[in-house]
Amino acid sequence: MTTLAKLQAYARNRKALLPISLLLSTISSIVNLLPFIYVWLIVRDLINTGLNQSYDNIIHYAIMAFVFAVSGLIIYFLTLLLSHLGAFRVETELRRVAMNKIIKMPLGFFDKNTTGKIRKIIDENASTTHSFMAHQMPDIAGTIFTPILIIGATFFFDWKLGIACLFPVLIAIVILNMMMGKRGNRFMQKYLNSLEEMNTEAVEYVRGIPVVKVFQQTVFSFKSFYNSIKQYKDMVIKYTRLWEKPMSAYTTMIHSFAFFLVPVAILFIDSSPKTILINLLLYVLITPVFAQSILKSMHLNHAFSQAREAINRIEDLTIFHDFKETKDSGKTPNTFDIEFKDVEFAYPESNKNAVDKINFSIQQGKTTALVGPSGGGKTTIARLIPRFWDVKSGSIKIGGIDVKNIPTNKLMQNVAFVFQNTRLFKKTILDNVKYGCPQASIDDVNRALDLAQCRNIIDNLKDGINTMIGTEGTYLSGGEQQRIILARAILKDAPIIVLDEATAFADPENEYLIRKALQKLTQGKTVLMIAHRLSSIKDVDKIMVINKGKVHETGTHQTLLQTNGLYTKMWKEYEQSVKWTIGEEVQYA
Ligand SMILES: Nc1ncnc2c1ncn2[C@@H]1O[C@H](COP(=O)(O)OP(=O)(O)OP(=O)(O)O)[C@@H](O)[C@H]1O
Ligand SMILES: [Mg+2]
Repeated sequence: MTTLAKLQAYARNRKALLPISLLLSTISSIVNLLPFIYVWLIVRDLINTGLNQSYDNIIHYAIMAFVFAVSGLIIYFLTLLLSHLGAFRVETELRRVAMNKIIKMPLGFFDKNTTGKIRKIIDENASTTHSFMAHQMPDIAGTIFTPILIIGATFFFDWKLGIACLFPVLIAIVILNMMMGKRGNRFMQKYLNSLEEMNTEAVEYVRGIPVVKVFQQTVFSFKSFYNSIKQYKDMVIKYTRLWEKPMSAYTTMIHSFAFFLVPVAILFIDSSPKTILINLLLYVLITPVFAQSILKSMHLNHAFSQAREAINRIEDLTIFHDFKETKDSGKTPNTFDIEFKDVEFAYPESNKNAVDKINFSIQQGKTTALVGPSGGGKTTIARLIPRFWDVKSGSIKIGGIDVKNIPTNKLMQNVAFVFQNTRLFKKTILDNVKYGCPQASIDDVNRALDLAQCRNIIDNLKDGINTMIGTEGTYLSGGEQQRIILARAILKDAPIIVLDEATAFADPENEYLIRKALQKLTQGKTVLMIAHRLSSIKDVDKIMVINKGKVHETGTHQTLLQTNGLYTKMWKEYEQSVKWTIGEEVQYA
C-alpha cells in the first residue's frame, strides 16, 4: 500500500486517474463475463427445447453476447487510456524530481555515481513504474474481481457445484501464499541487485576495452564481468528452482476445476439430471476465465515488489546525499579572500581524514599554490571550496561568509575551477566557451579565446568557433582542450579561480601558451593552484606543501628552499628531471 501511496504522490493533479481506471477495469471484467453467460443461455435453451424451436431467443442472446464482448473491450480500452495518462505523469514526475535533486547534489556525488549509472537507475526504474501503473494495476483490479464474481455466480446457480468449485481455489490460494512469502521478495531484491551489477560490469568492460587491448589482457579483464554473469545465472536458476514445485502444483490445481466438479455432479445427477447438466456446462465454460485470472493474480505480488524496488532505488539514489540547507543561508560575499579554519574532511566511505585540521588563508587578489606528494590531499582541499563535498568540521569562508551559507548559484558564479579531467561537451566551441557565461556576446567569446591563446586552434578549423567538437574528425589535443577550458574560465570572469594541474596535458609549446593563458586568467584574482611542475609556481605569493592531509610547510619559493625541507627535496628532484629531459646523456657511475 505504501508503494501505491508513494506512486500516487507523484501523480500530482492526476491522482484520480488511477482509481477511476481501476473501477473501469473492474466493470470491464464484469462485462467480459457476460458473453459467457449468454453463450451458456443459448446452450441451455438448446438442451431444454431442442433444435426445433424458434431462434428468436438464441439470436437475441447472441447479439447480447456480441454487444457485451465489444463493450468489455471498449471499457478496457478506456481503462488503459486513463491508466496510461496517470502512469506517464508519474514516470515524468519521478524523472523530474530525481533530476532536480541530482542537480542540487554536491559535485562530489558525481565521483561515485557516473552519469551512465545515474541515467540507468532513473530511466529503468521510472519505466518499471510506468508498466506497473499503466498495465499491471488495472489488470490486478480485474484479476481480483473476476474470481470473486465467478464464485458468486457459481453459488447463485448451484451451491453444491459452487462448493466443489471452491475446493481447488482454496488449495491454490494456500499454495500461492506458500510461494509468495518473504522468500519471493528477498529473491526479487537479489535478482535486481545482480542484474544491476551485471549491467554495471558490462559498461565497465566495454569502457575498459582500450586498456585491455593496450596491455594485451584477455581472461583477467573479463573475469569480473564473467563472474557477474555467472552470479546472475545462478540466481535465476535458484529462483526458478524455488518456484518449480509450488508452481506446478498451483497450475494443476487451478486447471482442475472439472476434476472436482464432475464427481459432485454425478453424485447429484439423480435428482434433476437436466439442471445439473446445464449448470455443469456453465462451469465448464467459465473455468478457463477463472483459471486465467487467478494465474494472473500470481504476478500481483511480483509486480508490487518490482514497483516497490523501482521507486526505492530512485529515492535511495537521491535522498541521502542531498546538500544540507543551512539556516542562515542566502548571503553573498563582497570580498573574495578565502579562509580555511581547522578544516577536517574524510570521504564518506573512509574513516581516515583526507584533509586534517588545515588552516590557511588567501588574501583577495593573491595566489597560493599547493604542492606535495601524490595522494596528499591537494585536489580534495581545492574541491572543498566550490563545495564538491561539505567539510566534516571547521569552516571555509569566502569574504568572511561560510561557503555553506552562500547560495549554490552565487558560489558557482564566484568560483571558476579548471580541473585536469574537465571535458568539453559535444557542442560547438562557441557553446563550450559560453558555458562560462551564457549571456556573453560573440565578441566576448572571441576575446576570451584570444586571451586563452586559442586563436591558432580556431584558425585551423573549417567552421571556426562554430565547429562541433567530437564530430567529423574534429578532436582537440589535451593541451588544446585545456586552453578552450581556460577560455571558458576567462569568460566567466569569476573573482576566485581554482586550478588543479592545469598544465598537466601540456607539451612544451602548449605549456608556454597555457601559462600565458593562465596569466591572463588569474590577473587580479584570488587563486588557488595545484601544480606538479614546480617551475610554474615559482613566483606565486605563497606555496604550501601538503602531505598526508596536513600543511607540511608554508612559504615562498625562496624561503622554502632555505628551510631545506620537503619542498627543497621536491625542487631538487624537479630540477633533476628537467635536466634529464633537456640535458646531455646522464653519466652513470
Ligand atoms: N572520490 C574519492 N573517494 C574516496 N577517497 C578519495 C577520493 N578522492 C581522493 N581520495 C583519497 O583522498 C586522499 C587525497 O587524495 P587527493 O586526490 O586529494 O590527493 P592529491 O594530493 O590531489 O594527489 P595527486 O597529486 O596525485 O593529484 C587520497 O588518499 C585518496 O585516495
Ligand atoms: Mg590531485
